[in-house]
Amino acid sequence: MDVLTALLLVHLIPVSTAKNGVSSKSRKRIMPDPVTEPPVTDPVYEALLYCNIPSVAERSMEGHAPHHFKLVSVHVFIRHGDRYPLYVIPKTKRPEIDCTLVANRKPYHPKLEAFVSHMSKGSGASFESPLNSLPLYPNHPLCEMGELTQTGVVQHLQNGQLLRDIYLKKHKLLPNDWSADQIYLETTGKSRTLQSGLALLYGFLPDFDWKKIYFRHQPSALFCSGSCYCPVRNQYLEKEQRRQYLLRLKNSQLEKTYGEMAKIVDVPTKQLRAANPIDSMLCHFCHNVSFPCTRNGCVDMEHFKVIKTHQIEDERERREKKLYLGYSLLGAHPILNQTIGRMQRATEGRKEELFALYSAHDVTLSPVLSALGLSEARFPRFAARLIFELWQDREKPSEHSVRILYNGVDVTFHTSFCQDHHKHSPKPMCPLENLVRFVKRDMFVALGGSSTNYYDACHREGF
Ligand SMILES: *[C@@H]1O[C@H](CO)[C@@H](O)[C@H](O)[C@H]1NC(C)=O
Ligand SMILES: *[C@@H]1O[C@H](CO)[C@@H](O)[C@H](O)[C@H]1NC(C)=O
Repeated sequence: MDVLTALLLVHLIPVSTAKNGVSSKSRKRIMPDPVTEPPVTDPVYEALLYCNIPSVAERSMEGHAPHHFKLVSVHVFIRHGDRYPLYVIPKTKRPEIDCTLVANRKPYHPKLEAFVSHMSKGSGASFESPLNSLPLYPNHPLCEMGELTQTGVVQHLQNGQLLRDIYLKKHKLLPNDWSADQIYLETTGKSRTLQSGLALLYGFLPDFDWKKIYFRHQPSALFCSGSCYCPVRNQYLEKEQRRQYLLRLKNSQLEKTYGEMAKIVDVPTKQLRAANPIDSMLCHFCHNVSFPCTRNGCVDMEHFKVIKTHQIEDERERREKKLYLGYSLLGAHPILNQTIGRMQRATEGRKEELFALYSAHDVTLSPVLSALGLSEARFPRFAARLIFELWQDREKPSEHSVRILYNGVDVTFHTSFCQDHHKHSPKPMCPLENLVRFVKRDMFVALGGSSTNYYDACHREGF
């Protein structure tokens, strides 16, 4: 069963959550009707999921566990929310999107004004350098390149509120008088990731006290801290990029589309392609702003569909060829290793870092998903969230288990290290040992060489 099917089943099967106290009936989700939804990937439908336009509160599976399980710690990986493009389509007017935060514009969240007001009071010493120099919320009447939009802020206020209802109100993950060392916060040095993290925290924490907030800075999008040097990982990436290039060359419709678009904007095809036009086009699409025109004509929906369809095809081939998997296993190891370290300390009864938040990018989440074996998971949408929950069985206090959720869907048993577990065990989660064994050893075994640790796997000769 793939993740899409899982998503749809969530919708079809009455989930037995009532006994856990959370009624899922009262919440609506924005997923389309499974009866009418096309089973094949439709580029426009995929693009809509990617936009993740906030609407009614979604239903999610976070925090679902039998009564005798106690929530020990939670590890949240997010992609920043909706942002302005990183590139411009040459010789066109860039989309007019307002990045100030205002109450009378959609999408809206009831905490939006309070968020702005709290952020504008400044932060004191809450950030590791160079995060101090970043603005705390988006604030330009014409968005700057890569700037978080109001949509992006609302997406994460909503994520935060959802996690608060589940983890704080229901499961009491943090005590009322929580202290700074009980939460661990890390972000890359972009304003959109810092601001996304702040918005999520603002929705999550009952009292957003600057004195208890400390964001660490992560220079690498892989969150690999002191373990970034890994030549074999880079070799996998080069081969993966070669694969991508060859697939693109084979797609004559794609080449034709780039050619047409280049003619419209009157630049060489190469220059247009280098400007990554799909990034801008997605912004037009997600914000319902018409595609750009010149006196030679307009970029249109057909162009968009061709490029988006190619992206979907590329992701399909990427899964098949497994080069990206090699890259991902090595790329995701350091952050997964850090996470299990945090989990193991929590199992020893330590009360620090019970809630960890990593505010990151698609190029962070994507390798982690791939490394975990969640190959069917969709490309990380704006404000995507990947969550690891650590649980303790009160009836057998020495036993700890994990659940893994992607955008609210329980994908625990889709991971490569827990795929078969539920067939032999009545437990609704995965033993922590499975995850630990995977990160400490099996990740490297999966690479196919003889390496059994990160250093050897990264420096394997003759790869
Ligand atoms: C998108 O914009 C068009 C006009 O430009 C408008 O008619 C339509 O209702 C808008 N759609 C949404 C979902 O806002
Ligand atoms: C994995 O984590 C342990 C501590 O939990 C650390 O000593 C080790 O260096 C880490 N390894 C890598 C490759 O990050």
